[in-house]
Amino acid sequence: MAKGFIRQSLILLLLVVSIHCSISVKLQSSQVEALLRVQSILNFPSVLSSWNKKTKFCNLEPSSSVTIVCYGNNVTQLHICGDKGAPKLPHNFSIGSLVETLVKLPSLKVLTLVSLGLWGSLPGKIEQMSSLEMLNVSSNFLSGNIPEEISSLTNLQGIVLDDNAFNGEIPDIIGSFPVLNALSLRNNSFDGLLPKSLSKLSGLRVLTLANNQFSGEVPDLRGIKNLEDLDLENNSFGPNFPQLENKLVSLILRNNKFRSGIPAEIGSYYQLKKLDVSLNKFMGPLPMSLLSIPSINYLNIAKNKFTGTLSKNMACNVALNFVDLSSNLLTGDLPDCLVSKSKNRILHYEGNCLNAPDDGQHQYSYCRNEALAAGIATSIKKRDQKRKAILASCIVGGVLVFAVLIVMVFWLFRRVNARKKLDAQPPRVISEKASTGYTSKLLCDARYISQTMKLGALGIPAYRTFSLEELEIATNKFASAAFMGEGSKGQMYRGQLSDGSLVAIRCLKLKENHPTEYFMPHIELISKLRHRHLVSALGHCFEYYLEDSSVSRLFLVFEYVPNGTLRSWISAGRARRKLTWSQRIAASIGIAKGIEFLHTGITPGIFSNNLRITDILMDQNLAAKISSYNLPLLTENMGMDTNGASTRSKEVYKRIKHEDKMDIYDFGVILLEMLLGIQIKTRSELNALRHQVQASLAADEAARRSTVAEEIQNTCSAESLKTMMEICTRCLLKDLTLRPTIEDVLWNLQFASQVQDAWQGGESRSSRSSSPASPPQLPKLRFTVH
Ligand SMILES: *[C@@H]1O[C@H](CO)[C@@H](O)[C@H](O)[C@H]1NC(C)=O
Ligand SMILES: *[C@@H]1O[C@H](CO)[C@@H](O)[C@H](O)[C@H]1NC(C)=O
Ligand SMILES: *[C@@H]1O[C@H](CO)[C@@H](O)[C@H](O)[C@H]1NC(C)=O
Ligand SMILES: *[C@@H]1O[C@H](CO)[C@@H](O)[C@H](O)[C@H]1NC(C)=O
Ligand SMILES: *[C@@H]1O[C@H](CO)[C@@H](O)[C@H](O)[C@H]1NC(C)=O
Repeated sequence: MAKGFIRQSLILLLLVVSIHCSISVKLQSSQVEALLRVQSILNFPSVLSSWNKKTKFCNLEPSSSVTIVCYGNNVTQLHICGDKGAPKLPHNFSIGSLVETLVKLPSLKVLTLVSLGLWGSLPGKIEQMSSLEMLNVSSNFLSGNIPEEISSLTNLQGIVLDDNAFNGEIPDIIGSFPVLNALSLRNNSFDGLLPKSLSKLSGLRVLTLANNQFSGEVPDLRGIKNLEDLDLENNSFGPNFPQLENKLVSLILRNNKFRSGIPAEIGSYYQLKKLDVSLNKFMGPLPMSLLSIPSINYLNIAKNKFTGTLSKNMACNVALNFVDLSSNLLTGDLPDCLVSKSKNRILHYEGNCLNAPDDGQHQYSYCRNEALAAGIATSIKKRDQKRKAILASCIVGGVLVFAVLIVMVFWLFRRVNARKKLDAQPPRVISEKASTGYTSKLLCDARYISQTMKLGALGIPAYRTFSLEELEIATNKFASAAFMGEGSKGQMYRGQLSDGSLVAIRCLKLKENHPTEYFMPHIELISKLRHRHLVSALGHCFEYYLEDSSVSRLFLVFEYVPNGTLRSWISAGRARRKLTWSQRIAASIGIAKGIEFLHTGITPGIFSNNLRITDILMDQNLAAKISSYNLPLLTENMGMDTNGASTRSKEVYKRIKHEDKMDIYDFGVILLEMLLGIQIKTRSELNALRHQVQASLAADEAARRSTVAEEIQNTCSAESLKTMMEICTRCLLKDLTLRPTIEDVLWNLQFASQVQDAWQGGESRSSRSSSPASPPQLPKLRFTVH
């Protein structure tokens, strides 16, 4: 009985529900007409074959191909999904009238018209579908641009135009959808750069741009806090890894032109499940943290130039069920955690140089050589010549704005060799073969640069490889407007990277053919010479000859130091205000710190830097930076043809015990110019001025004040002036054993600075009391004699 009762009430209930439905879903007749018109415009597709005037649209059983949802007497959702691969609609189809008809469904929020053979370009009238929240017109033949009018559809949360033939650039108005959370443009013919406004789509979770012809850098997407899905597959994005928030779940960069390395931060993408960076030109070390990202289960890095040594005991996420490391330059052993067969894991690793039992691995040397050749750009000699002509013409008409940046004196190279073979061989023997031995030692030692010295508070980006493309864009194809000057060691260009930062690019044309391998140790050393008082290298780029892949040009990218040379702040013309005495002391301390770093911050030190006041550059805070240090690079190419370099090296070599004292002398010359405010151009000028300073040191304070530059005569304390003069004359002593060490120089400069500070404080007090300030207790000057 109870059963019967339940059945009856169920039937009753169903009855009530169905009556209720049929009552409440009496669709407005205009909307019924609109739907029937849609059927006709779509040329009566088979999936709509049941529609006719009597159809109760709001009561239709939802199916995978047709679903209509009503609210009250309005259609709010319309999904029509035609047969897969439906052909283009006939000629009399008009997308315009389709949209006009759909406008008659005023409450339509969700519209899906998939695989219906639609063609034409979206009309601006689409703006009248003002309730629209989700538009999915995938798998049709739609073409043309995204109409700007679409931006008035401010309720849009999803735009899906996948698998069509849309083209052109994404309009800037794309940034104007306040609530958009999915934008999917997969498999169209969009091209150009992505608009920066994309980063304004702060609610976006899914961004799919795969299979288009987009190019260039991905705009900074860090404004999109909740981006979970980014798919850029099959485009030409690059070269830099996109800037992203760390909430990503799926990141697909497959088959683009990314080159720069993967940032280590990716280890902090705690939700990342799928990472596919395969088929790019990524190079450099593989962040090993990729294998152990907390949520990762799919990792594909195949076909790049990742380097790195894997080891058996590395950690990896147990959830990883797909790992493809194939065709990279990895060495070492496969991690045990990947090899364990217990899981249903797919693992590919062929085409590396791993210690793996199976075939399909290269020799270790292959990976090494390929790694050295990474960053490849190619050139043929002909093209080079054309460029030379362009350069020549810009030099002829040219303005030599910038003095020689880096003087390549190559004796360090010899010195290190010589150290090993001091007794056995004459010092001049330099051969390419000898370089291999020395370089590994140098590299090894270079690691001893302390962490603080390497990173400091430099505020410059990590050293990296640049692509030739990138440098061409930065310099507008090495345009004459970017040309800064030319020295014996190549041309300098000013460039602006895509992130807006300015750089100075030195282009070295190589006379002798060498493979990349030959340069790498030098490059590695250069990458480590970073200090607040050195103009530091940001990266490099090789250009190759096609015929034999030897390096044709080497580009070294340096930070751009904007504020002119030290000389321009001391003695050149009246163009700018001159440095005060305190600023001069500060600048000399900066230079001395730079020298100290070159001498002792790295083992073996870099000496004989041939420092000149025109090679000291001033940054925006008036900190002095040494731009011309003795880069041990390119010996055969350049060392021999500049008479100065090789004779000087020989001379220095003889006195290798006091190698540091050459720089001390050069420092003395710079100091002399800072004291006197006179440009020193010849040796006889130098000697005369040195004697003048010496004489005034021996005389009295008045004599000393009258000797120095006018603008500092009355603003320096007697004691600091005397100290600075003393340092200067000692640095310039002929007998280099008597010259102070850089530590002593620095100590005394700092002393002069303190004395000056105390004096300035004292003077401002004494101007009230009008009693002469008493000098602070002075320690004796420190000059250790070696
Ligand atoms: C249906 O749409 C019309 C026009 O947008 C609106 O005025 C009406 O209130 C809607 N009806 C319901 C039940 O929402
Ligand atoms: C379009 O042309 C087809 C034949 O190609 C015809 O069957 C159909 O009725 C036409 N549709 C309209 C809306 O004129
Ligand atoms: C678009 O609609 C089709 C058919 O309903 C569906 O398969 C596809 O997932 C939709 N696309 C998106 C991104 O929602
Ligand atoms: C891209 O879209 C075209 C046209 O809709 C389709 O034929 C093709 O299969 C799609 N390709 C991919 C890879 O999805
Ligand atoms: C990328 O291109 C390949 C080859 O043309 C194709 O097989 C693949 O489906 C494309 N990927 C996407 C996401 O369209």
